[in-house]
Amino acid sequence: MLLAREELKELMKNKFMAAGLHADDADKTAEVLTWASERGLHSHGEVRVEYYSERISKGGITVDPNWTWEQTGPCSGMLDGDNGCGYPFAIKGLEYAMDLAKENGIGIVGVRRVSHTGALGYYTEMAAKNDLCLLTMCQSDPMVIPFGGAEPFYGTNPIAFGAPTADERFVNFDMATTVQAWGKILDARSAGRSIPDTWAVDKDGCPVTDPHKVNALVAIAGPKGYGLMMVVDILSGVLLGVPAGKHVSSMYHDLSEGRNLGHIHICIDPSRFCGLQEFKTHMSEVLDELGAVKPGPGSDKVYYPGERALLRKAKADAAGGIEVVDDIYEYLKSDKLYINSWDHKNRFAE
Ligand code: NAI
Repeated sequence: MLLAREELKELMKNKFMAAGLHADDADKTAEVLTWASERGLHSHGEVRVEYYSERISKGGITVDPNWTWEQTGPCSGMLDGDNGCGYPFAIKGLEYAMDLAKENGIGIVGVRRVSHTGALGYYTEMAAKNDLCLLTMCQSDPMVIPFGGAEPFYGTNPIAFGAPTADERFVNFDMATTVQAWGKILDARSAGRSIPDTWAVDKDGCPVTDPHKVNALVAIAGPKGYGLMMVVDILSGVLLGVPAGKHVSSMYHDLSEGRNLGHIHICIDPSRFCGLQEFKTHMSEVLDELGAVKPGPGSDKVYYPGERALLRKAKADAAGGIEVVDDIYEYLKSDKLYINSWDHKNRFAE
């Protein structure tokens, strides 16, 4: 089903409002999900609406949060979301971080005690469009072995970086620190396919090719990805005083409880370093140079991080909307808040 951007957004917004979210929060949440879907990141788009709606309706997302903001230094601050909806708080935290960066050159804001904040590229794009660089990262629930281990300890802990250029392009590097998302394991299960032995391990920590035997995912690049995953957990978890490592709450365990997740924005104003115009011009040159690199075997060209997502968005724009699977469209149109309860679903779904 091809849905116009605004139609999809409106359907999602209405569902969140029916679940109890206030209009402004529902609007911001639906906007980030639409942003992800139109860039082909469906894992962080409309597919999440049913789960969020169930969690909101069961009280696991506070709809009237008693949130607080404290500027803790010239360049730093903490936003406590009282387990309110993650998206509006991640946006609010970024607004504070951008203000601090414009005032002082750098702004670091910890967003603590919030629910899921989705595809991080939304926030890095927002900063880049405001002529700022942003490094942003957050926790997610434990489903990844620490290097050399046999049990899940860290989450897929995503990290993203965005930077402006002198033209309409911007760098948007945005990734989970795991080789593959759990969704890819589910795809292989449903298609009856095996998986490469580099994606996941069984209950003894041994690499598996049978997707039904997967007990945990693995970090990118062995011990290096494991270290990076730990950095994400320290900066967005331990530093912000929220549960960290294997103590991070599960997305699907108890939908009536707040998740207490952490997310950190580290915002840099290029004008305080080499100068904004020099930075942007240089960035454009770097992207031009990358695009001119001779393609290697099997590659049509060298893309900069974020370029392919923008091409997918251009394709969606040209097609007049976003392709949404029929089941999800039927659910979005229905008056049901949720059809299949997410309670007790597999812990790996994030
Ligand atoms: P991915 O593997 O699709 O892309 C990772 C990065 O590689 C992107 O910056 C992309 O632009 C770049 N890239 C991909 N192919 C490329 C190519 N051929 N040439 C140049 N660059 C290329 O992303 P992943 O790891 O699957 O993450 C998907 C989304 O899930 C992200 O938005 C992430 O923030 C989100 N996520 C959110 C979580 C949360 O708890 N909030 C947890 C895990 C992921």
